[in-house]
Amino acid sequence: MEKMWAGRFLKASDKLADDFNSSIHFDSRMYRQDITGSMAHAAMLAAQGILTQEDCDEITAGLEGILNDLDSGALAIDGQAEDIHMFVEAELTKRIGDTGKRLHTARSRNDQVAVDLRMYLRDEAGQITALLRGLIAAVLKQAKENTDAILPGYTHLQRAQPVTFAHHLLAYAMMLMRDVSRIEDAVARMNVCPLGSCALAGTTYETDRALTAQKLGFDSYCLNSIDGVSDRDFCVELLAALSVVMMHLSRFSEEVILWSSWEFKFVELDDAYTTGSSIMPQKKNPDMAELVRGKTGRVYGDLMGTLTMLKGLPLAYNKDMQEDKESIFDAVDTVKMCLGVFTPMIGTMTSIKPNMRAAAQKGFINATDLADYLVKKGMPFRTAYKIVGQLVAHCIATGQVLETLPLEEYRSRSELFGEDLYDEISLETCVAKRVSAGGTGPDSVAAQIKAVETFLGASE
Ligand code: ARG
Repeated sequence: MEKMWAGRFLKASDKLADDFNSSIHFDSRMYRQDITGSMAHAAMLAAQGILTQEDCDEITAGLEGILNDLDSGALAIDGQAEDIHMFVEAELTKRIGDTGKRLHTARSRNDQVAVDLRMYLRDEAGQITALLRGLIAAVLKQAKENTDAILPGYTHLQRAQPVTFAHHLLAYAMMLMRDVSRIEDAVARMNVCPLGSCALAGTTYETDRALTAQKLGFDSYCLNSIDGVSDRDFCVELLAALSVVMMHLSRFSEEVILWSSWEFKFVELDDAYTTGSSIMPQKKNPDMAELVRGKTGRVYGDLMGTLTMLKGLPLAYNKDMQEDKESIFDAVDTVKMCLGVFTPMIGTMTSIKPNMRAAAQKGFINATDLADYLVKKGMPFRTAYKIVGQLVAHCIATGQVLETLPLEEYRSRSELFGEDLYDEISLETCVAKRVSAGGTGPDSVAAQIKAVETFLGASE
């Protein structure tokens, strides 16, 4: 096939170089955006008198035909084309003849690829925030069913203080809500139209950039044409937001993996989201959670690769930038795939409340409450802290727990101890008395549930 730029060249390009240069096998997924962008461009050219209405109508009909045929599969992408932009233009000219050659007036592939990618990614971002909302809803459902399940909260993976499973899960809801807002934030800056920047300097035609921006659903157009074709911040920002999503999913996965182990057995995963072993008949492995945790690395890699590719690039367009697509496509595909399986895995997980409770009864997780008991009777916190530490050491040495240690033992350490201490350090009291805002107490958990419901309601 003769190159579009054959006029300037004395010989054909090398076959290997052509393959190396080509991006069609990954950018063809933007055909819809490319064609819609071209339709808006043609309409603008006609509105400005740069194209006749007749030519514009012919171009639009031709593009519509190509879109329909690509959608239906009647037209296959030509793997020999350099990229999706060249393919669509060549196909248009094949179909409507010379009029097709007028489409690329006042435009360059540099602004074309930038507009295609922004449109493609804003759609993908919308799908991802919808998936995230689905996961938040699954977490919320689990939280509502587990407001009475007490388990140890951990620091350093050591039992620390009693919390409800609802409270623990709602922490993930908070993280995921921030993820949605981070992506929406990135989309606000992404939704600025670069079309009309042309190769880098703008054009001698009197184009109407506001019109194409508006036709393509952008909030505005970028004010500097060099920035318009050089900027890939929108990729970096989305990749960064997606990396944070994966970091969150990876932490959640790690906990699901721990919780479903025999050592914890706080939850049972549904059979549908686990696998067996080829040799050990008893096994039920949390492969989905492990894979989500594992795939986090590739999304971080996509971010790092893109940042590194952009580092030190002079303005304006450089071919290096073609490398933006495989990274960002891999990241959006990976996140969508992970959320697709993670959400039902969480939604169908069963909590095993007695095991949570049994774990909460070990590890002296009510020790802080015992110290607070003394403080409320007038003792300075540091003194109370020391006495309780000695009591815990005594319990460990003698194989006892604070709940059943005799009152005489308590009183031998401080006169302030009375019969009411036992009630004060019961797991229920420890949780119920965490009355501070944002704590694990029931009012705070109810307020969190309400906040998550409002968030989800507002997005419907
Ligand atoms: N396939 C190219 C890319 O993805 C399109 C832009 C090419 N522009 C150019 N001046 N060669 O970046």
